[in-house]
Amino acid sequence: MMQVSVCREQSPHAPVMLPEVLEALCPQEGEVYVDGTFGAGGYTRGILNSADCKVYAIDRDPGAKERGAKIEEEYKGRFTFMRGCFGDVAALLEKEGRGQVDGFVLDLGVSSMQLDEADRGFSFRFDGPLDMRMDSAGDGETAADIVNTYEEGPLADLIYRYGEERCSRRVAKKIVARRAVQKFKTTLDLADVIREAVPRSPKDKNDPATRTFQALRIAVNDELGELERALEASIHILKPGGRLVVVSFHSLEDGLVKSFMREKSGAAPAASRHMPMGAQSFAPALFEQKMRRAVKPSDGEVRINARARSARLRVAVRTNASVKGVA
Ligand SMILES: C[S@@+](CC[C@H](N)C(=O)[O-])C[C@H]1O[C@@H](n2cnc3c(N)ncnc32)[C@H](O)[C@@H]1O
Repeated sequence: MMQVSVCREQSPHAPVMLPEVLEALCPQEGEVYVDGTFGAGGYTRGILNSADCKVYAIDRDPGAKERGAKIEEEYKGRFTFMRGCFGDVAALLEKEGRGQVDGFVLDLGVSSMQLDEADRGFSFRFDGPLDMRMDSAGDGETAADIVNTYEEGPLADLIYRYGEERCSRRVAKKIVARRAVQKFKTTLDLADVIREAVPRSPKDKNDPATRTFQALRIAVNDELGELERALEASIHILKPGGRLVVVSFHSLEDGLVKSFMREKSGAAPAASRHMPMGAQSFAPALFEQKMRRAVKPSDGEVRINARARSARLRVAVRTNASVKGVA
């Protein structure tokens, strides 16, 4: 193995659980990997520095292309950046004429760069426009579109489902009442209204606006839909023995990854409308789970990078079972 080195000073985003990710992915000479969430390229560099291998990286953020170009220059012939969504990983690889790969890694959520740029509207630490689109150059719905136009019921459902906010009805009611007087434009304005609706709990150190902001970000970027598509695609893009490595940051993401890996490794019955009960167990296992439990970051990492606190890593290895055997 070549030396693993990622200099934290040179990266605006500290890669979370990098040693654990590299151990799970186990880069080997001549192999090919997909980094589905390129960000500042922390994982990509770690992989490229671990072995004489190749990386195809994906990111939907317009700023990632420039960071990708630097790595393309540095690791000539070993790196290709693909702008797009990781849910479309199969089509993106096909466009590059690339067949199956040896590993697929996802580091979910937003990067420190996205959180720290007030103009992106992801954070209520700064005042900024209520945008929250990772693809800020696209024409998708923004957080402002959601809070200013959704009916009270669907808005409350969205905040409950994606933010797991118990006061979702009160938050939606406050938002709808306020926007009748004046539409929402900025992050701080929205955060203030949410705080009026959600009582601060002494047990919860998070700001009362955190859960609603998470819900809006997930909805704006269809984060759970993207994850489901990427997990399904991993069945097709990974070679037998290929590693699927996912780092998630909240229970909704981790729950999806956990049930996908359990189901596809035969540890849980595959849900299918087309199969009689009991027949599910005949579906061949498409993945093998190396460990049943998620791996957590070390105390040392959490001490120096608070963002790592909620990270959970899961790994599964593609078997040689063919996809045809599955409903
Ligand atoms: C947590 S950061 C990744 C950081 C990266 N591992 C590093 O070490 O620098 C997540 C990145 O994934 C991107 N991203 C999130 N969801 C995406 C999706 N569905 N398709 C493509 N990129 C996505 C974000 O734009 C962001 O740049």
